[in-house]
Amino acid sequence: MKLLVINGPNLNFLGIREKEVYGNQDYQYLLSLISEKAKKENIMIDTFQSNGEGQIIDRIQEAYFDGTQGIIINPGAFTHYSYAIRDALASMDMPKIEVHISNVHKREEFRNVSVTAPVCTGQVVGLGLNGYILAVDAMLNMLQ
Ligand code: DQA
Repeated sequence: MKLLVINGPNLNFLGIREKEVYGNQDYQYLLSLISEKAKKENIMIDTFQSNGEGQIIDRIQEAYFDGTQGIIINPGAFTHYSYAIRDALASMDMPKIEVHISNVHKREEFRNVSVTAPVCTGQVVGLGLNGYILAVDAMLNMLQ
């Protein structure tokens, strides 16, 4: 099985940015959690992070050609307004899970809206970095 985990803008700043919201662990730590999970489950998980909308769209489109079977995505702030990322996700005929580290529903009002969630299979919200691991478990359930 081959999964892809995409992280959007500012998620490379985990451990630096708003620690009271996103915790103390950095992006490298998140990558290590994901690679441990991949080893444990004996699957392939590619990871990608970009601060750019176009780069994220390019990576989603690449997944069409590279054998990816499921996409886990934290689009960061693009969640709330990127119709272009929404369209890219909509074009992918595979399970897609949106992850948010923080509980976007108890923060600023603009974070209550996700334009990307309606084209995803499901969403994991507010459970910290463990949300990515829960999303992998959900993928395993759907794809195995
Ligand atoms: C986030 C929530 C977004 O509102 C924010 O812009 C982020 C991170 C989260 O993981 O909680 O960058 O997607």
